[in-house]
Amino acid sequence: MGALTGRNLLSLADLSRSELADLLRLAGDLKAGKLKPRTDKTLGLVFSKASTRTRVSFSTAMFQMGGQVLDLNANISQVGRGEPVQDTARVLSRYLDAIAVRTFAQADLETYARYASVPVINALTDLYHPCQVLADLQTLQENFGQLQGLTLCYCGDGNNMAHSLLLGCALTGVNIRIAAPEGFQPLPEVVAQAQALSQGSEITLTTDPQAAASGAHALYTDVWASMGQEEEAGDRLPRFTPYQINDSLMALADPAAIVLHCLPAHREEEVTEALLEGPQSRVWDQAENRLHAQKALLVSLLGLA
Ligand code: CP
Ligand code: NVA
Repeated sequence: MGALTGRNLLSLADLSRSELADLLRLAGDLKAGKLKPRTDKTLGLVFSKASTRTRVSFSTAMFQMGGQVLDLNANISQVGRGEPVQDTARVLSRYLDAIAVRTFAQADLETYARYASVPVINALTDLYHPCQVLADLQTLQENFGQLQGLTLCYCGDGNNMAHSLLLGCALTGVNIRIAAPEGFQPLPEVVAQAQALSQGSEITLTTDPQAAASGAHALYTDVWASMGQEEEAGDRLPRFTPYQINDSLMALADPAAIVLHCLPAHREEEVTEALLEGPQSRVWDQAENRLHAQKALLVSLLGLA
């Protein structure tokens, strides 16, 4: 039984610095084929929003280890017809060994965790996307050999990605600069939590993308309108245009800087096609690492190693 066996991952703040470092080491070992864990367990995916990477990487991680996955999206289960989370969580816990939930409110995810008797994993909420940031940190680590002392610049919406990056960077010694328009800065309580977790990571919030990008080792962006905000996309466009990751922003970054994006991307909005497809882009490795990082998470939560 490892330190994470039976636990939930609702936010990266659920992990200590050493637990996160261990997970990233395990993810690297799994990617390198140094261990081949096996399981007969079943993971349920209770997703109320669309997903390609998270759904397929969780599923493939379980399949590669010999386990099973049940895709329980809201439309095909009673969740979509209003069965209470409290009931769903207790019933699913009688069948499944872990539940990954993608939903809107973090409070709903917390209700799943309160009533479930198996590990509950945040597969994205409006507030956080911790599984993505596990893969992001793995990608940074494999590119630069270490995390401590790197500087990541995130340009765009102070959304779920920005929040989980703040926490993940704070826990791993990565300096993080968030450049977002006024009114779209990350939530002050998440920033305060990241500051409390940080032991040496500098956390900078600004409205100035050029200042944020200067000398950074990674330029990271995400869509300007997240799932559930589609109707705001038109109004947001002019506000966010100065925050596009493009050649002129890249020219300010460290010469060895990489481009990261959680995907799906909107080319020529938050990132140019040239940068997304260019030699400094690591977005495909980053997407691949979802598989390795989440396999490490499952191995740890299910006590497989
Ligand atoms: N990055 C990410 O979570 O992608 P999906 O929405 O496709 O799962
Ligand atoms: N911020 C985006 C991330 C998608 C992976 C969203 O929530 O839609």
